[in-house]
Amino acid sequence: MEKKTRRAFLHMINAGIVVLFLFFWNKLTSIHIQSIKNQEYSPPFNKNKAVSFHDNFIVVNDKGKYAVFSSHCTHLGCKIANFENDRLVCPCHGSEYDLHGNPLKGPAYKPLRKISATISDDGQTIQITG
Ligand code: FES
Repeated sequence: MEKKTRRAFLHMINAGIVVLFLFFWNKLTSIHIQSIKNQEYSPPFNKNKAVSFHDNFIVVNDKGKYAVFSSHCTHLGCKIANFENDRLVCPCHGSEYDLHGNPLKGPAYKPLRKISATISDDGQTIQITG
């Protein structure tokens, strides 16, 4: 009986550690988004390119429809900087995302965080709004 109680206690401790890790991980990624929010970037940017990688974000041009995503993988936060076979590929553990930020291959299971942004008509400036 005592063994069962100890085992249940260890399971509770493990579950608590996982919940704490997820909480702090979510906080860290939120801080990252806050740090780039309301900033204007004038990166070298070709608005006709399908995908352009920047320091903290990725701009996807899906047939003229733009979307901006955090460049941090939702698995452990590595910066995604590869585009292969129409997929955004994380260099760390191989997670793959489609052009809408949805995970296609794990270990990441959450979509990339979408960032609100405005791209100027000439494509010279990206305004991160949230
Ligand atoms: Fe991207 Fe692990 S950090 S797959």
